[in-house]
Amino acid sequence: MTNGYLISFEGGEGAGKTVQIKRLRDKLTENGFDVLVVREPGGTVISEQIREILLSAKNVGIAYTTEVLLFQSARAQVYRELVLPSLEAKKIVLMDRTRDSSVVYQGMVRGFGVDVIEELNNISTRETYPDLTFLLDVPVEIGLARRAQTDKMDRLDMEAKEFHEKVRAAYLKVAKKNDHGRWHLVDASKTIDEIFEEIWQTVSKTLL
Ligand code: TYD
Repeated sequence: MTNGYLISFEGGEGAGKTVQIKRLRDKLTENGFDVLVVREPGGTVISEQIREILLSAKNVGIAYTTEVLLFQSARAQVYRELVLPSLEAKKIVLMDRTRDSSVVYQGMVRGFGVDVIEELNNISTRETYPDLTFLLDVPVEIGLARRAQTDKMDRLDMEAKEFHEKVRAAYLKVAKKNDHGRWHLVDASKTIDEIFEEIWQTVSKTLL
C-alpha cells in the first residue's frame, strides 16, 4: 500500500452500520492495522457543531439548499482535518457515511441531481473516493423498528416511511450501477455475526 485505504459504510436508518464498523475496527486493529473511525456528518469539533444544526429536531425549517451545503461543509472540514492526513499517513479510515449519503439523500431523494452533488463532493473531499463501500441494505420496517428501540429519533429519522423507501431504492440503484467497482451489497436483515462475516471476507481479501 502506497497510501491508506478508505472503507465507507452506507445505508438507511437502522441498518446497523455503527456496530459493524466497531467490529471491523477491532478486527483490523488486532491484525496490526492503524485504524481511524469517522462518522459523517461530524468527526471534528467543527463538523460536530454543523451536525448539531443539521440533525436537531428543532430545525424543521431548514431549507434543502442549506442542508446540502451544510453536509458538504461538515465533509470538507473532516476531510481536511482528519481523513486526508490519515490516508497520507497510510492509515485505514472507516467512514460511517460519506459522499454517497449526499448523492442518495440530497441528490436523488431531495432531487438536487447527482451531478451537482458529485461536483460538491469532489470539492469537499479533494476528489477522494472510498476504495470499498458496503451498502447495508435492510427493509424499511425493520430499519425503523431497530432505530426506535435504540436511540432518540433525529430530524431525518422522523421523515415519512415513503422518504425512507426512496432512500433505500436510491441506494440499491447506486450500488447496482457500481461505479469504480467499489460497492458491496450486504443483506443487513441477517444477524450481526453473519453480516460481519461477509464484510470481513471482502476486507481481508483486499488487505491481508
Ligand atoms: P445519523 O444519526 O448519523 O444516522 P445513521 O445512524 O442512520 O447513520 O444521521 C445522519 C443523517 O444524515 C442520516 O439520516 C443521513 C443524513 N445524511 C444526509 O442526508 N446527507 C449526508 O451527506 C450525510 C452524511 C448524512
